[in-house]
Amino acid sequence: MPFRAPMEDTHVNARLTLLAALLGLTGVHAAAQTNPHAAALIRDAMALEPDAERGAALYREHCSDCHGEKAWGDAAKAVPSLAGQREFYLVTQLAAIAELGRIAPDMHRALQRGDLAQPQGVRDLAAYLAGEPPGRNPQHGAGRALEAGERAYTRGCAQCHGARAEGSAEEPIPALAGQHYSYLILQLRNFSAGHRGLVEPPVLDFTAGLSPDELEAIADYLSRLPPAAAGR
Ligand code: HEC
Ligand code: HEC
Repeated sequence: MPFRAPMEDTHVNARLTLLAALLGLTGVHAAAQTNPHAAALIRDAMALEPDAERGAALYREHCSDCHGEKAWGDAAKAVPSLAGQREFYLVTQLAAIAELGRIAPDMHRALQRGDLAQPQGVRDLAAYLAGEPPGRNPQHGAGRALEAGERAYTRGCAQCHGARAEGSAEEPIPALAGQHYSYLILQLRNFSAGHRGLVEPPVLDFTAGLSPDELEAIADYLSRLPPAAAGR
């Protein structure tokens, strides 16, 4: 099972400090994003015992229409795969969507309903998704510049996302390996246009300095990495 709960307080506090630092470093939208409701939702959710079976039921009822039966996403619509994503990262994103309005209007409506915006619902959903096997056929790019993609990734991204793009269990950093190309490139274009708030300015500056070709190369490279160590 991902995340043994209840976790030690110091551990939770270290994560929240890091999250606060991440949320606090975001420039114009910083005030909205240090929303105490979101921080409390994350803290409370992480302190609970997850019930992945209940998460599965919530998922089927509210999410599978868009994210797919197996949570492998929908490349044609740039809907991300969620199966095997990091649990802590998922909790922070569900809280961000529920409380902060991360740009995702349809999602926002789904996640503001009753149980889904409660700490237990958030934790159960995250635990279920983190424990599911990752998709086997992610969408790829054209395959033209995979070495350049690897070089740029190693230079600018691996220090946070991990050498194999496996993300982090300790910090709210997503796994990227095996994600759909269409979703990755959309997010990277959003970053380079400064449109997704929760990423730190240095990352936004770095992505803004990359050419469209380089962004495509990175997204293509990542979509082809095996999602080895994700989930936990
Ligand atoms: C109407 C379609 C739709 C529904 C219903 C929906 N989602 Fe999404 N979801 C999306 C789209 C589209 C995105 C990508 C948004 C973006 O580009 O930022 C997304 C993004 C996400 C993300 C962010 C993924 C990441 O890697 O950062 C999470 C987590 C998520 N959804 C979870 C859920 C859960 C849990 C539910 C059910 C409670 C749900 N979604 C219901 C369409 C949907
Ligand atoms: C300083 C650490 C750091 C670095 C360096 C970094 N990232 Fe990230 N990245 C993050 C964090 C934290 C998030 C989650 C942001 C959020 O909560 O929305 C993220 C989110 C993402 C996402 C969205 C994933 C999803 O599932 O929605 C993509 C794509 C991404 N990063 C790609 C990259 C690429 C490509 C690079 C290098 C060009 C990079 N990142 C460099 C920390 C970093």
